[in-house]
Amino acid sequence: MFPRDFAWGAATSAYQIEGGWQADGKGPSIWDTFCHEKGGVFGNQNGDVTCNSYELWEKDLECIQQLGLTHYRLSLSWARLLPDGTIRNVNQKGVQYYNRVIDDLLACDVSPMVTLYHFDLPQAIQNLGGWKSPDVATLFDSYSKFCFQTFGDRVKLWITINEPHVCARLGHEVGIHAPGLKEKGTAAYLVGHNMLRAHAMAWHSYNSEYRTTQKGAVSLALNSDWFEPLDPLRHEDVASAERDLAFTLGWFAWPVFITGDYPELMRSAIETQSKMMGYSGNWRLPRFSKEDPPILGTADFFALNYYTSRKVKSGGCCGPMLSMKRDLDAEEVLDPSWPISGVSWLAVVPHGLRKLLKYIKDVFNNPTIYITENGFAQVGPLQIEDVERCKFYRSTISEVVKAIEEDGVNVRGYFAWSLMDNFEWADGFSVRFGLFHVEFSGAELSRTIYRSGREYSKIISKYKSAQSGCQGFLDDDY
Ligand code: GAL
Repeated sequence: MFPRDFAWGAATSAYQIEGGWQADGKGPSIWDTFCHEKGGVFGNQNGDVTCNSYELWEKDLECIQQLGLTHYRLSLSWARLLPDGTIRNVNQKGVQYYNRVIDDLLACDVSPMVTLYHFDLPQAIQNLGGWKSPDVATLFDSYSKFCFQTFGDRVKLWITINEPHVCARLGHEVGIHAPGLKEKGTAAYLVGHNMLRAHAMAWHSYNSEYRTTQKGAVSLALNSDWFEPLDPLRHEDVASAERDLAFTLGWFAWPVFITGDYPELMRSAIETQSKMMGYSGNWRLPRFSKEDPPILGTADFFALNYYTSRKVKSGGCCGPMLSMKRDLDAEEVLDPSWPISGVSWLAVVPHGLRKLLKYIKDVFNNPTIYITENGFAQVGPLQIEDVERCKFYRSTISEVVKAIEEDGVNVRGYFAWSLMDNFEWADGFSVRFGLFHVEFSGAELSRTIYRSGREYSKIISKYKSAQSGCQGFLDDDY
């Protein structure tokens, strides 16, 4: 059974839904730039308009209410609030917009979970070096304090940075996300480091200046697949799966939850590859400086984004150049028994979530966990009767129940990705994750509930009524 105050949510992010990319004084972000420079996104699409939540927020609120959510996770656009990224210029229209969203949610008894950074750095800060520059941490801290000060009387759940792993790797190593850098084997580690520094500074600011009065909680959202050895009896495969976990989840979770530093496995793997390439020392994965606020302990809960799983075997490292892939030295494969959702990377493995939750409980000292993203992608012709996605949500949520009841994992919330179809980064509008369909080709951008939206809403209302006393009647269904 779910705890009484379990958060039933759905998630979105600013660039993916808001549109209004230049409205009312908003500054450009790196995603505006990335999309406008043709070639990086499916069909040269962009988030200029997308769901137009900047103007159509009431429609989103109706969807939220229709689902019966207790929580809604949204992100703030840094460049909408602070067009040049600094608190020297505040865009009051941006402040009004988010005030309205937050107030409307609360008026409908829905608690906001607010992400400060979901991939969309102000372009002005990118021009100063972006996340590769150490100064970005201080700028992020000022932006965070501004948000705590402005919205923290009403927002009690904060995420500083969404998926530092994805920002660092896809944005700076692989180059398929903004800002589109392909500086293999170096930039991602530096970016990840500055993101951790930025996160820690913001957490400390909240802790010392706002926590007593605002009484909220702050964390960062970490993405990870569940990785397991292809052959559990092969030592090399076991070691490769452990390395994959260290390079994905451990990269950010070890410093914050266990040691204040990167996993030893990660350091030694990077060092080994550096040496093999003729470089001395460990210059690629930075060290935390004593001058910065400590990283350890800077999360009030564990926020996990889980989508899929991988089997891992040794090898797969290649080429004469430094790269993260080379450092990782592991090859990920799919189990042929796992169905694939609409996108090739998303194999449907609900039991992998249960295993990952148990792993987090065991390795990271039994934290309170919110599953801040989880979802299923659809491509191709419109299918309002999305039966596969219904199955996906049912079986995923039953795995969460097992994690809570049988493994004793302290899961406090579940956020489906996503409330509605939206701009899916490099895949543009070709991939749909919504519980509501959005008609992007019509001027009204109408929202229509998918069958999976109705299913999720049914699940929520059943659990809510079970929590209020009618326990037991769920067992037949889940
Ligand atoms: C996450 C990201 C979301 C969403 C989702 C589905 O990595 O945080 O913004 O796009 O993936 O791909």
